[in-house]
Amino acid sequence: MENDRTTTSPSRLRAGFVGAGFMAEVHSRAARAAGAEITGIASSSHASAARAKDRLGAIQAYASVQDLVEDGAIDVIHVCTPNTTHVALAEAALKAGKHVVCEKPLATSVQEAEELTALAGSLGRVAAVPFIYRFHPMVREARARVRLGQVGRVLTIQGSFLQDWLLSSEDDDWRVDESLGGPSRAFADIGSHLCDVIEFILDDRISRLAALTRTAFNQRGGRDVRTEDIVSVVFETCGGAVGTLLISQVAPGRKNRLALEISGTMETLTFDQEQPETLWVGRRSGSQLLVRDPAALDPSAARYCSLPAGHSQGYQDAFNSFVSDVYLPVRSGTVPDGLPLFEDGLRAARLTAAVQRSAREGGWQEVPQNDPESTGHKTPLLTLKERQ
Ligand SMILES: NC(=O)c1ccc[n+]([C@@H]2O[C@H](COP(=O)([O-])OP(=O)(O)OC[C@H]3O[C@@H](n4cnc5c(N)ncnc54)[C@H](O)[C@@H]3O)[C@@H](O)[C@H]2O)c1
Repeated sequence: MENDRTTTSPSRLRAGFVGAGFMAEVHSRAARAAGAEITGIASSSHASAARAKDRLGAIQAYASVQDLVEDGAIDVIHVCTPNTTHVALAEAALKAGKHVVCEKPLATSVQEAEELTALAGSLGRVAAVPFIYRFHPMVREARARVRLGQVGRVLTIQGSFLQDWLLSSEDDDWRVDESLGGPSRAFADIGSHLCDVIEFILDDRISRLAALTRTAFNQRGGRDVRTEDIVSVVFETCGGAVGTLLISQVAPGRKNRLALEISGTMETLTFDQEQPETLWVGRRSGSQLLVRDPAALDPSAARYCSLPAGHSQGYQDAFNSFVSDVYLPVRSGTVPDGLPLFEDGLRAARLTAAVQRSAREGGWQEVPQNDPESTGHKTPLLTLKERQ
């Protein structure tokens, strides 16, 4: 379906959204903040899209996902649907020539993640995954401190991502059902964010891990539960650091507590995404609670301060920064430092597979690194201007 609307400036980026739930709202707010037109929305049904249209401030509700994907008036598609639908939707959008933002987990198997990443690379489209914790200024500050050697040689990492929304056996959601959520729940859903932000700050990779998983209730919503509520992981990095992770969706009182502590030979860095305005810097003497202030941060972190010191930034601000960075290469071809791409979604799929293997078979599992030859962009990125 070609759309011949003439009201939009040709250089204004036009965004379409698949899915009409929580994430579609977060994505559309971020797209608007980044100067895009909220061109349209498609969901599981026309009625669902029509209900969401005004909530998102979209111009059009499409009768089907196919209509949205085939609309020539859309430049970038945000896939905000249940996990097992991501691959087919992202593939269709890429093949229709769109730039794509696809929610995590990018795919629920390594093979599908590899194929999708290779497809994006061969088509020269921007293909990003919202690992948005990278966009908190204090995470960028932590990364800068590791890079500049202020932390010293990294020795240990301790990370957790704790929630309580599945605490009761009465709690249920599509994420519990593996036909929609995929075979891993807690790890693929939130452990993937934790590993991404740790590897991002360290500029290092987990090389091997051992994992245990637990399912708190065998049944939810009258169905057998096969996906995990809890994961504990012991790991080693390529750089020789060692660490532990605890991931749970049944931890009373915890909502979205992604917390991490990185200790090197000179400093410890502690970050908690529920208190994202601060970074604790531990030293043998002279420990310090660093408060977000663009004037005091490394330029790579100050760049993500959208508000002055003292006016708190949070999750939506990080999301806005992510989408703004996705649109930069769409507009100009320039990929900003630290933009999470499909390669990073593939990386998360490899980690998830290693966790599942270890939980099933026991013992240490190697985590294969991405092969730079089989992923990454082989074709120069096609910018908005070049498409017109
Ligand atoms: N990056 C993050 O910080 C973050 C946070 C939360 C969720 N997520 C991810 O976002 C995705 C969506 O999560 P959510 O919380 O918005 O879920 P949700 O249940 O609130 O919304 C999902 C929407 O998708 C629609 N839908 C379902 N199947 C569809 C299909 N085949 N085609 C089109 N539309 C379909 C549903 O009608 C619903 O409107 C998930 O993959 C989740 O892992 C990411």
